[in-house]
Formats: sequence, C-alpha cells, structure tokens
Amino acid sequence: VSKRFHIGVFDSASLNDFGTVTWRHPDNESYRFTDISYWIELAQRFEDAKLDFLFLADTWGYSLVSGARKDISFTEGLDLPRLDPAIVTGAMAPATRDLGLVITASTLLELPYSMARRLSTLDLISGGRVGWNVVTAGFANTASAVFGREMPSHDSRYDMADDFMELVYKLMEGCWQPDAIPADKGGIYADPARVHRIDHDGPYFSSHGYGNAPSTPQGTPFLFQAGTSGRGQLFGATHGECIFLQGTTPPRVAEYVSSIKQKAAALGRDPESIKSVVGLSMVVAPTREDAQRKYQSYLDLQTPDLAIASYSMFTGIDLSGYDPNTLMDELHTEVGQTQVDRFRGRTIGDVTMEFQRRGVRGFISVGTPDEVADEMCSMAKAANVDGFLLEPWIQPGSTVDFIEHVLPILQKRGLFREEYEEHTLRERMQGLGSSRLRDDHLGARHRPAGQ
Ligand SMILES: Cc1cc2nc3c(=O)[nH]c(=O)nc-3n(C[C@H](O)[C@H](O)[C@H](O)COP(=O)(O)O)c2cc1C
Repeated sequence: VSKRFHIGVFDSASLNDFGTVTWRHPDNESYRFTDISYWIELAQRFEDAKLDFLFLADTWGYSLVSGARKDISFTEGLDLPRLDPAIVTGAMAPATRDLGLVITASTLLELPYSMARRLSTLDLISGGRVGWNVVTAGFANTASAVFGREMPSHDSRYDMADDFMELVYKLMEGCWQPDAIPADKGGIYADPARVHRIDHDGPYFSSHGYGNAPSTPQGTPFLFQAGTSGRGQLFGATHGECIFLQGTTPPRVAEYVSSIKQKAAALGRDPESIKSVVGLSMVVAPTREDAQRKYQSYLDLQTPDLAIASYSMFTGIDLSGYDPNTLMDELHTEVGQTQVDRFRGRTIGDVTMEFQRRGVRGFISVGTPDEVADEMCSMAKAANVDGFLLEPWIQPGSTVDFIEHVLPILQKRGLFREEYEEHTLRERMQGLGSSRLRDDHLGARHRPAGQ
C-alpha cells in the first residue's frame, strides 16, 4: 500500500501570489481577501475536503526594479496591499475544528518574545492546529527599508534566525510546563515549581524572565521551512519538521530533499521524520483541450513587465538589465537566493520567459482529473516528497476543481484520507500521539529535565 499524501493549500492574504497575476480572471475571488467571510468560507471548504492545512504566506516587502517601484506593481496589485496572516488565522480557527492553519512569520522583522506569544495564542485557540513557516524575510531589501533597518547579509539573516529559534524554544518548551496550571479554585492557579525562568543572551537576541503565554497543545507550533539556498537548507535541516519546496522538475526537487535529509542526519535527527511537500499548480477540466484553454486564460494575464517586476521582488535583480544570453550562474544576490539557484544552468532570456509563465510556482499539471491524479503519483515518487502544496491559479476555483474531481480519485486509490483521525497538526504530519516536538529536535533540548 502506498503512503497517503499530505495536501495543503498555499495562499496569502493578498490579491495575487506566486509572482503571477490572475486577479482579473472573471472566476477569481481573490479580490475578496480583505473580507474575513471569504477566508472562513475557504477554510470550511478545505476542512470538508479533509485537506491537511491552509497555509498563508507572508512578506513585508514589495517589488522594486532597479531602485524604483513600477506602476504596474500598483495597477496589478502584484505584492501590496496585504493583511496580517496571524489575525486572519485567528478568525478562521474558531470557524474550523480540524484543518491545520499555517502562517509565515519573519525572524528578521519580528521580535522573538512577542512572536512566541502570538503563535502560542493561535495554537491555544485552534487546539493545536498551528504551523509556522519560518522565514528570514522574503523581499528582504524592501522589507528592511520599510522597518527602517539595514538589510543584514543573506547568511547572517540565517544566523539571526537560529538565535531567534533558540529563544523561542526556551519560551515555548522551557518555561511553562504543560502541567504548570492546575487552575484549582480551592488550591492554586499556577504551580511555581513548574514555571521556569528563562535566560537568553544570544548573538542577536536576549531575554530574561518568564514567557508571556502558557504552554499550548503543541508547545512549539509545527515548523515548516522554505527556501533552498545553501544556508536555507542548513536552517531547514536544523529546525524544519516539514520542508516546503517549489521546483520545476522532480529530479531537482529530489536532490533538495535528499540534501536536506543528509544534513539533518548529520545533525543527529532521524531524516525520515522530516516531511516535504512540493508546490503544484494544477488546471483540471473534463477534457485535455478544455484544460489547456483554461490554462491559456491564466497565461494570457501575464506580461513581460510583470515578470520583470516579480522576479525583482524575489531576488532584487532586474533581469531586463542583462544580455538575455547571460547564464544565471553569473548572478548573485543578497536578497532571496532560491529563485536564482533554482534556474542555474539556464540563460536570463529563458528565465524571463519562464517567470512570465509560472512566477515561482512549482510543478504544473494540466489535464483531465485522471491525468492529473496520475501525474501527482508519478511526481511524488520521482521527487521523493510526502505530498503537495496546491498553488491555486484562481481561488476558490482551482482548489474546488481539485477537491471535486481529483481528490475522489486519490481517495479511491487509497492515497488520501477519508476522515481526519487526529487533532493537532503535528500529529497529522507525524502520526498519532506525537503532538510535541520529537526528542531528536533541537527545540526539545530546552525542556526542563524529566519533561
Ligand atoms: C512553498 C514556499 C513558500 C514560501 N513562503 C514564503 C513566505 O511566506 N514568505 C517569504 O518571505 N518567503 C517564502 N518563501 C520563500 C523562501 O523562504 C525564500 O526563498 C526566502 O524567504 C529567501 O531566502 P533564501 O535566500 O534562502 O531563498 C517560500 C518558499 C517556498 C518554496
């Protein structure tokens, strides 16, 4: 029997995502992103389908091309405006019961002490369904500028992220024991012997005192990591429990998966405990011709100017400033490196065209429900991943097409659950009875003795 897939939906509380622009499509409802009923409807729909989680990506930055913001970024709502995913998630939590809720939060721009409380609050109000996609900061150049800070170099942002995580583990694992609060009106509220003062003096952050939030069902939220730059992979191997990947070919994704697992094993973790899910943009219709037509209707919305603006947003690099025959291998950036590394061996001309078609989207599958289901099976095998992160071209249309037409095929093949069997997100991803960080995870070292 094959393993069941993990399937989440990738979205963000903004008009467009993935470096493509589809908001104008007549069937796209993403323009409703400021309306909380839109998010609640989506979450309930995904929960009815028993999907693993809804992930809301986030960034504080925006697109700048060679120092200037292009009008097209405003007129197409390429990157701004957006909403805070933690608050949107806080509203979805009580409207759902089982769906995992995953948000991105930045270790460059947030403070660990307040971020820990925000994530613990979400974990409590959702009953342990929260995941955290830990990123340093996408679009780090413009994001740093809006916060009035200098942008640290690429690799030092990850050093800072390691320090951020250590403090968060101390707060979430080491301070309030799960049994610290008997809340007994005849006795005590909190037991002083079960609440531990933390002291942290790291290279970037320090904190002295007590966590501001109590222990939560998962302790530390289930940790995702994305970003396949060299330093990013090491960070993922250290902290990630599930790796988000986007790749254009299964062999390239398989390479990342095995590289991260090797690095994790070298750090003393069980490499097989680390899950990975890969981005998949699908277009499904009753016939292949209909699917192609639908796909073309999304491609028709993309333009070369948008591709330049969006590539620059991810990398800080203006592709229009180069000879199209230049090899991508010659480029270097201190902004995001994944979208440079990903295309190594190709020319700038190729990448400009490719970015216009797909932005940062991962695998693309276009066809009938059976064709797409077959392709998912072969992709998962060839890429050695545990599942998929659906990247809707339009929302909810693309996800609903998947739920109504492809999911039943996967279920018939035993590749997707019929019912939820667990409550916390970590249990869903790692198995029943595993709501807390595994003992071989770095964060577990910060638990008080005997816990
Ligand atoms: C599936 C997926 C989701 C991502 N979501 C975010 C996100 O929400 N915010 C963000 O800043 N970067 C996000 N990223 C991008 C990476 O984390 C990005 O590469 C990183 O922020 C830049 O660092 P790097 O130089 O290590 O690539 C995502 C990447 C992938 C593959």
